[in-house]
Amino acid sequence: MHTRLLISFAFLALVADNALCAPLSTTTPNIVIGSGSATIASAEAEYLCMQLSQTFQPPSGITINNTFTQYFPEGSTASIEFLTDSYPNGTIPAGVDKQTILEDVGPDLNVRSQAGYGYFNSFASQQNGMPAFCRFVATIITGSNTSALSEVWLPLASNPFIPLATPEQKTNQSFLSILIGKLAKRNWSWQVRSLPGDFVLGYKTGWNGRIAVLGNSGQLGWVPMVTMKNYMGRYMFVVAGTNLGHFSDQNGVEWVLDNFQDTLTDFASRANHLTTLLAESVVDQYYGKDCIHAVRNPKDNNRVYRYYAGTSVGGARGLSAAQIYPNDYHGIIAGAPANQFMNLNTGQLHTASLHNKSFIGEGYFSRSALYGPVKDIITRQCDALDGLQDGIISAPTLCKFQLEPELLCGTGTTYGQSNDTCLNQTQINAVYQLYNATYIDGEIIYPAYWPGLEHSASNLRGSNAKASGWHQLVVLRRPALNDSFNPFTDIRLSDLNAGIAADPGGVNAAETDLSAFISSGGKLIMYQGSYDLTVSPQATVNHFNQMKESTSASLGEALVTSSIKLYEVFGMKHSRNGIGAANFGAPQQNDDGQRPYKFESGYDITLALIAWVEKGIEPNGQIALHYGTNTTVNTSATTNTTDPDRLPPENRQDYNFGVVFSRLLCPYPAKAVYQAGANPNGENGYQAFTCV
Ligand SMILES: *[C@@H]1O[C@H](CO)[C@@H](O)[C@H](O)[C@H]1NC(C)=O
Ligand SMILES: *[C@@H]1O[C@H](CO)[C@@H](O)[C@H](O)[C@H]1NC(C)=O
Ligand SMILES: *[C@@H]1O[C@H](CO)[C@@H](O)[C@H](O)[C@H]1NC(C)=O
Ligand SMILES: *[C@@H]1O[C@H](CO)[C@@H](O)[C@H](O)[C@H]1NC(C)=O
Ligand SMILES: *[C@@H]1O[C@H](CO)[C@@H](O)[C@H](O)[C@H]1NC(C)=O
Ligand SMILES: *[C@@H]1O[C@H](CO)[C@@H](O)[C@H](O)[C@H]1NC(C)=O
Ligand SMILES: *[C@@H]1O[C@H](CO)[C@@H](O)[C@H](O)[C@H]1NC(C)=O
Ligand SMILES: *[C@@H]1O[C@H](CO)[C@@H](O)[C@H](O)[C@H]1NC(C)=O
Ligand SMILES: *[C@@H]1O[C@H](CO)[C@@H](O)[C@H](O)[C@H]1NC(C)=O
Ligand SMILES: *[C@@H]1O[C@H](CO)[C@@H](O)[C@H](O)[C@H]1NC(C)=O
Ligand SMILES: *[C@@H]1O[C@H](CO)[C@@H](O)[C@H](O)[C@H]1NC(C)=O
Ligand SMILES: *[C@@H]1O[C@H](CO)[C@@H](O)[C@H](O)[C@H]1NC(C)=O
Repeated sequence: MHTRLLISFAFLALVADNALCAPLSTTTPNIVIGSGSATIASAEAEYLCMQLSQTFQPPSGITINNTFTQYFPEGSTASIEFLTDSYPNGTIPAGVDKQTILEDVGPDLNVRSQAGYGYFNSFASQQNGMPAFCRFVATIITGSNTSALSEVWLPLASNPFIPLATPEQKTNQSFLSILIGKLAKRNWSWQVRSLPGDFVLGYKTGWNGRIAVLGNSGQLGWVPMVTMKNYMGRYMFVVAGTNLGHFSDQNGVEWVLDNFQDTLTDFASRANHLTTLLAESVVDQYYGKDCIHAVRNPKDNNRVYRYYAGTSVGGARGLSAAQIYPNDYHGIIAGAPANQFMNLNTGQLHTASLHNKSFIGEGYFSRSALYGPVKDIITRQCDALDGLQDGIISAPTLCKFQLEPELLCGTGTTYGQSNDTCLNQTQINAVYQLYNATYIDGEIIYPAYWPGLEHSASNLRGSNAKASGWHQLVVLRRPALNDSFNPFTDIRLSDLNAGIAADPGGVNAAETDLSAFISSGGKLIMYQGSYDLTVSPQATVNHFNQMKESTSASLGEALVTSSIKLYEVFGMKHSRNGIGAANFGAPQQNDDGQRPYKFESGYDITLALIAWVEKGIEPNGQIALHYGTNTTVNTSATTNTTDPDRLPPENRQDYNFGVVFSRLLCPYPAKAVYQAGANPNGENGYQAFTCV
């Protein structure tokens, strides 16, 4: 170790500060450690990483504390427990329940489970762990008494035998224009504009020059380590993330009590903003300011390309960034956005109340009834409305279903007469209310969830404490939680409206004018599962329409339409999973086997965003896959056998279990129209549809 450091130190004196970044020759393998020409994982890279915590200068205006760096050689697994245990003492305040939080951060990513997807993972010899990387950790001082824990991970090329692309290839306008010209001539009427990942990203190995800041979900206050592992392994981006200024599990809310306004400001936008500036500075100081890999945006003072990807609350944070810090990101992915958060929590309470015996009384129905007969009846009545009977309701807004008489006990119900298989009229009326908007005093607070929500029946439990806590501490600004607050009966319209108007920290994220973001060239891709019972799909569609309307007023409709996209994903639940085609490389599709089908922009929404921002290939559709299941692999949440209202176990889809079908996701308001007679199954199933 000592010898190595000495050699490295001597070497450092001889090379420029971009030693980690100069390209390898495309022909001659360079394996001499210390030769100074490699971006490879090397003694130099490790030494510079260790030095970085001492030498790092934060960008002006940003104060950091407790800087720490750690080097991981190629092949490490870097579990979330190990990453957590590596924090220096003092990083995590005493009293934080790390174990409970880590359960929400996980499940941990098994790199091998990505089944060879993406850059690093695709090297056959390297499927046993992570690429080599330098981990930079710092506490950013965000306010007079608040701070955010942030991390920036800097990947390094691992295999010196794999040549890098030359800078000429990346900037060869003749090559680029030939390719883009070919693409333009294609008949795109059903074909998705799909570019190979290698072309989109440019470099074959090592850092490919971009920064991706990744989001959390729920009220989670932790660095999104699992998503960071996934994005770094797949795309070799510099990845960054933050605890958003607090330490908490997904449902925790009492963290808002400390330094209320500042803490919520961090959560809503500031922690991500400062982390983004920090990441850019870390990149300059680690790889070197002149790093030839850095992909720079001429329209943004030649700064490195910066992206954001998040879903759920992470999706809302993408929308917040576009509003509040329109120059932070050149491209944003905002999935199933939990914006209008005050309203959304009330919507979740509305649906949960209908499954709560003490509230709904005689109208109480089991989740098994919802997931069983109710689902079957609605599917039967609405499945074919989109022109294809495939078990997926793809025209939910046309679906006007009728549960009687089939579900009514005592009639000729085909399901039997047990309390889980037939319902009386009082219960059926309660079921209908699940599909109704959330009202208080006759005013719509949150739009309705859509038919197909039965697939998310498990969401009828578990959100009460979170939503009730949010209402008490953020909307009402009470100083403490009170168990006698009944969220189903005690929410007053005037209180809610006052809370929304106060919008502490900007956390409600309800604004719709994206002029600044779009006029500076920003691109936004949103997506929304139609079977989501957390974020109402109608709420996302409404918000998208409102963004288009308010922004078009100043910028014109054409520019807006060619700058923001929304994909409705029929049959997908909250951010992932479900009976529809739900795998397209979205953030937090991190579980085993949840990979895009091909390393191409047409199949991978992240590559699509980059191709759009950097190469001007406006996405006209996205291909999503439904993979096979293996009956021995169930998701664990529903298998509590002592619960009288248990749901059947759900088999997990996995790339390794084969392709069942693919579907075409169309940019809203276009719909994927089925061409009668075409084969909707198999990997080319999407070709049976046209975006109209
Ligand atoms: C960190 O804290 C642990 C437990 O309190 C202690 O055993 C250890 O010595 C501390 N390490 C440092 C470097 O202070
Ligand atoms: C910096 O960190 C140290 C150790 O954790 C802590 O004592 C100090 O208060 C921090 N400074 C600021 C400004 O937060
Ligand atoms: C640029 O690309 C074109 C088309 O692929 C190729 O013919 C040419 O040799 C390239 N130029 C350089 C300098 O690599
Ligand atoms: C493009 O493809 C569509 C559907 O296959 C077809 O109807 C149309 O005529 C084609 N257009 C051209 C210009 O080839
Ligand atoms: C700073 O925040 C802590 C909780 O995070 C709180 O206990 C303390 O009173 C605050 N100090 C000031 C000066 O606001
Ligand atoms: C029903 O709602 C009450 C009031 O919020 C709550 O205390 C209780 O835990 C809920 N029951 C279930 C099963 O969620
Ligand atoms: C409907 O069913 C519920 C639950 O079994 C029961 O409590 C209630 O009395 C029934 N109502 C009527 C009108 O039969
Ligand atoms: C249905 O009946 C069973 C057995 O009596 C009981 O355990 C269960 O709680 C009932 N479910 C509902 C939804 O009333
Ligand atoms: C939806 O709920 C509102 C408020 O409770 C009610 O006025 C309306 O009739 C309901 N709509 C349907 C279709 O049940
Ligand atoms: C909780 O609310 C109840 C009912 O409003 C009130 O009587 C009680 O004092 C409250 N408890 C606390 C600790 O604020
Ligand atoms: C199902 O998956 C498990 C875990 O990956 C594996 O051990 C088993 O062999 C698989 N079974 C089939 C029939 O593919
Ligand atoms: C299983 O369900 C029972 C009954 O609802 C509940 O008491 C128990 O806590 C549940 N167990 C787990 C591990 O969730």
